[in-house]
Amino acid sequence: MQNGELKLRFVPQTELDIQKEYCKKVAALLNERYGKKPLACVVTYGCQQNVADSERLKGMLFEMGYGFTDDRFSAQLIIFNTCAVREHAEDRVFGNVGALKKHRAENPGTIVACCGCMMQQEHIARKIKKSFPFVDLVFGTHVVHRLPELLYKTLTSQKRVFETPDADGVIAEGVPVLRDDEKKAWLPIMYGCNNFCTYCIVPYVRGRERSRLPQDIVSEAKSLADSGYKEITLLGQNVNSYGKDLEPRVSFAELLRMINDLPGDFRIRFMTSHPKDCTEELLLAMAECEKVAKHLHLPFQSGNDRVLRAMNRGYTRSRYLSLISRARELMGDSLSVTSDIIVGFPGETRQEFLDTLSLIEEVRFTSLFTFIYSPRKGTPAASMPDPVSQEEKGRWLRELLDAQERISAQNMKKYSGKTLKCFICGRGRQPGELEARTDGNLIVELEGDESLIGSFKNITVTEPLTYVLKGRLAE
Ligand code: 5AD
Ligand code: SF4
Repeated sequence: MQNGELKLRFVPQTELDIQKEYCKKVAALLNERYGKKPLACVVTYGCQQNVADSERLKGMLFEMGYGFTDDRFSAQLIIFNTCAVREHAEDRVFGNVGALKKHRAENPGTIVACCGCMMQQEHIARKIKKSFPFVDLVFGTHVVHRLPELLYKTLTSQKRVFETPDADGVIAEGVPVLRDDEKKAWLPIMYGCNNFCTYCIVPYVRGRERSRLPQDIVSEAKSLADSGYKEITLLGQNVNSYGKDLEPRVSFAELLRMINDLPGDFRIRFMTSHPKDCTEELLLAMAECEKVAKHLHLPFQSGNDRVLRAMNRGYTRSRYLSLISRARELMGDSLSVTSDIIVGFPGETRQEFLDTLSLIEEVRFTSLFTFIYSPRKGTPAASMPDPVSQEEKGRWLRELLDAQERISAQNMKKYSGKTLKCFICGRGRQPGELEARTDGNLIVELEGDESLIGSFKNITVTEPLTYVLKGRLAE
């Protein structure tokens, strides 16, 4: 890629300055209209990338003078940041937006906005336009940085605002961020996806793969570490292809090493990895970088080669298995491997499903995220013959979950009596309890004072349960 092309992907400074001006205009308008600090409620669905986007939405809203609430009925602005990856997520959004109809009718000054992956699909934006007339503002994934301008338009015109341009995508540096947590941070390193797995809507709604410059990422990581952040999670749909679009090229493994070299006591995590681009170089960097958590989230989706081909995944079962054994060779027992699986891909037979089941028996993952296939309009898989009933797919999923439950419980036993360095990340489920995370991202619950939240501590496991470990502070 030429430098000129590279520059085109970045939102120019002049455009960002215009948005800053709009921030001031909105702030003045809000002051006039409400007389006190108005409240915004940002409701986020879906993946961590969406959580990170919402932190940027909140950063801009903060600059515009908004305070924040989790109670949508006391907010003057409600934004739904939506997810399109499965139908279930979309149904929840429609349900929750629909539930605001009466409230919005009784409070005409309240603004209801929808953004995110769902809105980037034409048929969804159309449905909102037609069937949800009380939604004031709809904007897509490529114009998030223009929220100040779009909100200003919504506040000043009598018309509804719809802005969902189709695009390959841009990178907006320097957008303000208001982080949800003071110790754990999400750090996007790239956006979009080029893989076009045949079931997946993401490449259509998030545009082409584009990497942030390494110096921008490293300086953000440095300022996070300097201000006391203890866990930094690097985000991308396929972090293993980071930097392929940069000139000069920088690999994800090199980026990991740069961040690992920053001073400070913090842990680096990353997600999501794609087996097709998972290299020896990356596994070595993981093994050698002391700050990088020994946790590999490597979605395999299916254990059958025909299904993998139909999904356009770009690897085989045996390649996946050899990656896992190489990773374990390098990182040993300390490595935690997790994965995503789709059950009931169109045309998948019982026999092919059994290959997925046998793969989880073979790998013995720490934990799994399992999904029943959900047709996504406009993707190739949505028009493939899909003869297996939902009930049957549900039974397969249950088999998978039962097997994984047994495997997880067995895996957890090996931690009994062990002392592990854990990050205490928040309150536990029971009063007086804290929740901590091991390097491999396992949950440990322990009794302790809330002042420990946000620190690393050695914790001895006293009782391994199926999904969580019970522990106590080590002497
Ligand atoms: N149906 C079911 N699951 C899906 N995923 C992505 N698209 C679909 C779909 N259409 C799952 C994949 C992916 C995870 C984030 O969501 O397993 O890894
Ligand atoms: Fe979707 Fe595949 Fe891209 Fe992941 S790698 S976002 S599953 S297309």
